[in-house]
Amino acid sequence: MASLEKAFNIADMQALAARALPLPIREYLEGGADDEWTLARNRAAFDDWVLAQRTLVDVSTVDPSTTMLGFRSAMPLMLSPTGMSQLFHAAGEPAVARAAAAAGVPYGLSTMATTSIEAIAATGASRYFQLYLFRDRGLTKALLERAAANGYGALCLTVDTAMAGNRERDLKSGMIMPPRFTLGSLMSFAAHPRWSLGALKNRSFQLANVVDHVGDIGSEGTSVIDYVNAQFDRSATWKDLEWLRAQWSGKLVIKGAILPGDCANAVACGVDAVMVSNHGGRQLDTAGAPLDYLPAIRDRIGTGAELIVDGGIRRGTDVLKAIALGADGCSIGRPYLYGLAAGGEAGVARVLSIFRTEIERDMGLMGRTRIADVTAADVDHLSTFRSKPDKPVPSRLAKRRTANS
Ligand code: FNR
Repeated sequence: MASLEKAFNIADMQALAARALPLPIREYLEGGADDEWTLARNRAAFDDWVLAQRTLVDVSTVDPSTTMLGFRSAMPLMLSPTGMSQLFHAAGEPAVARAAAAAGVPYGLSTMATTSIEAIAATGASRYFQLYLFRDRGLTKALLERAAANGYGALCLTVDTAMAGNRERDLKSGMIMPPRFTLGSLMSFAAHPRWSLGALKNRSFQLANVVDHVGDIGSEGTSVIDYVNAQFDRSATWKDLEWLRAQWSGKLVIKGAILPGDCANAVACGVDAVMVSNHGGRQLDTAGAPLDYLPAIRDRIGTGAELIVDGGIRRGTDVLKAIALGADGCSIGRPYLYGLAAGGEAGVARVLSIFRTEIERDMGLMGRTRIADVTAADVDHLSTFRSKPDKPVPSRLAKRRTANS
């Protein structure tokens, strides 16, 4: 698709997606909670750090490949679980999984997906399954069994969703699932005929993995907020994470812990990885950005678990800053959905190729040829940097800096 080739970065792809989507769908994709402070902070946190531009290093071969959640990955980037991908393009989750497989990066299937666990397994993507704890524990067990039987290498429990976040854009745009041609939204749907025709042809919109247990999103349509508040188990505690650890023998990941103490608790419960995330700013507004907490988390847990940073990653330089600050890799949500909205599978492929090109080029310009070589020696906090060498750096960063400089 010609227009995809004109998307040179993720912001370009975001603009293409905005053109493709009717207003309520666009607002659902872009929105954050309350005043969207956290949504903005997720991006702004990266601006507080500068990368080291190291020169006269042989970078004739740059290898961005690494391992995350037990998967070999072509680059330190994976795809976060997002619900209801068919909202953005009729090709939905299978298109995303196929693009991930082609690019050699892991894909996370959401509990709230519009495609089944089994159908995504058939794409052959390196895959993990993201779980929400439902009030119906029988459903949780059934999902675990299906994920294990279908070759999902890791299970990811999302823990930042005890209650639905307050997404006022959805309230204002009247966003309901599945989308309906209501009078209020008719103009916007009519202005996006390609999306609307795809939605009309696609009659299979349902929460494919939970529909038989808790009922689907109602035929009259319901808001995500109402659905989450009705179905998710608010009483879940660390005991439930221990319970889950006992039920699942593969890699276990917790997504949505950002406080160092919570991450340490998760490690004590036996998780293999933490996705340090605030749900892309969609849950607790004014929560800190994952990047803000990252050095303190690494300091607290040492090498006890992998850390994957999720939220606000839009550039190769963002990925490399996160790794330098202690992450093992990064994960994206909205960027691949922009690609999906703009061009289906080809759009997602384009997004992944943009990231791959940026990461390789940035590594070369930093004088780093392997991900393992990217360390605290590669970043400086703006404040530290400006007043160097008098300001102390956090202890773990200092240690890594000495070891690697
Ligand atoms: C999400 N996210 C999410 N997380 C999760 O654990 N289960 C889910 O079903 C969803 N659904 C979902 C839908 C949409 C439309 C968005 C934008 C996000 C959160 C997602 O996994 C991830 O944490 C954020 O998207 C990361 O932030 P960025 O990359 O979007 O800035």
